[in-house]
Amino acid sequence: MTYLERMKQKCEGIRKQKKITILAIESSCDETSVAVVENGRKVLSNIISSQIDIHRHFGGVVPEVASRNHILNIIPLVDQALESAKMTLNDIDAIAVTQGAGLVGALLVGLTTAKALCFALDKPLINVNHIKGHIAANFLAFPKLEPPFMCLITSGGHTAIVKVVDYVHFELIGSTQDDAIGEAFDKVARVLGLEYPGGVKVDKLSQGVEPKLKFITHDVLANSYNISYSGLKTAVINYVHQLKQNNEKVDVKQVCASFQREAVDMLTSKVMRACSEYKMDKLVLAGGVAANSYLRKSLDKLCKVNKIQLFYPPIEFCTDNAAMVGSIGYYQLLSCDPAGLDISALATIDLNQA
Ligand code: KG4
Ligand code: ZN
Repeated sequence: MTYLERMKQKCEGIRKQKKITILAIESSCDETSVAVVENGRKVLSNIISSQIDIHRHFGGVVPEVASRNHILNIIPLVDQALESAKMTLNDIDAIAVTQGAGLVGALLVGLTTAKALCFALDKPLINVNHIKGHIAANFLAFPKLEPPFMCLITSGGHTAIVKVVDYVHFELIGSTQDDAIGEAFDKVARVLGLEYPGGVKVDKLSQGVEPKLKFITHDVLANSYNISYSGLKTAVINYVHQLKQNNEKVDVKQVCASFQREAVDMLTSKVMRACSEYKMDKLVLAGGVAANSYLRKSLDKLCKVNKIQLFYPPIEFCTDNAAMVGSIGYYQLLSCDPAGLDISALATIDLNQA
């Protein structure tokens, strides 16, 4: 019997257990995180080591530096996550790990650790798609939330509208054709001289400011569910550069608030249209930008008017963490489809891959 056949058989046994415990690992970008999750919904531990202070000096994530720091962090974090959950490796049923999307060098650290543990312990390896992990963050926050629902994924690397059919079937309705919304927030913040990661600073500086500027005249993808952020991002950067070249003052708060309104309104109108066309009465937010206060407020209002139930995870589950990987990993384990030990890290990944 091959390793994979043996692991499939193990999964068949594990899925009959009342309690299934997963050790989850996330290292796709600049957060190293290890969690222990029970039955996909209960977080027993979720340890996150952020490298933001290291990358801030460079104005963004330096992939090689991220990989090296993941290497330093990963084993101590596995120990801490187990200790905090009051468990040992023997109590773990399977190991879930982010396979992609992300920085390949960074992903490899988590993936190699997970593979080594699975090989040594003879336990199933569950390969997780990072985007699905972000969606599953909501399963941790809302114990009664079940598919089907519409999901708006807004993170530093992804922007997409996804129909979550069930726990393992996802349908892509629309996605960014170029930059992700979080990347646009971070680049706009950078041109305004705000420290990395700038998204949260743009949000804070926009509070209480009435937006007056308009950067793009029309959305070329208005009739589609696809989105583009490179035009808006470039328009803001050009606007700021032009003022600086003319020695004119940049009203940082006004630029923040105006950019934020345009970036968010573009998305919210499309996601509401998607809910209506696909007859979805539940909308779920996921990813780092789901922490944005204007996005939350706008969707709160729109969902109330359209009688749609809105879910967004608490801030700590919006950004990268391993607990979300453990949640979706549980549902993948139930479908008995473990990964081989020969899988590699993927910089980009289709929604239904992994
Ligand atoms: O999901 P995430 O941790 O990373 C990826 O998987 O990409 O998202 C990080 C992104 C960054 O671009 C960060 O600036 C943005 O989320 N972000 C925000 C806010 N908080 C985090 N953007 C706008 N407003 C916020 N409050
Ligand atoms: Zn993420």
